[in-house]
Amino acid sequence: MSHSPIHSAGNAPAKAELKAGQTYAWCACGRSGTQPFCDGYHQGTGIDPIVFTAEADSEVWLCMCKGSKAAPICDGSHKNST
Ligand code: FES
Repeated sequence: MSHSPIHSAGNAPAKAELKAGQTYAWCACGRSGTQPFCDGYHQGTGIDPIVFTAEADSEVWLCMCKGSKAAPICDGSHKNST
């Protein structure tokens, strides 16, 4: 499968400051120009962003390789990709 609809957007997670009660859309397809968040570029790929609401003001590491099993949070999976 050389043409996966999911692209890696980077080999390290992106730190994000989340605000309590705010909703975010994490890019799952890897195409967004505003990583790690969705900018609508997934249209036509069949991939949808993961939409979530922050429960508290928090600093998180969001997955950029798009391979995390704990998406949108980085689980270290980028270390397994080449
Ligand atoms: S641009 Fe990647 S999920 Fe929307």
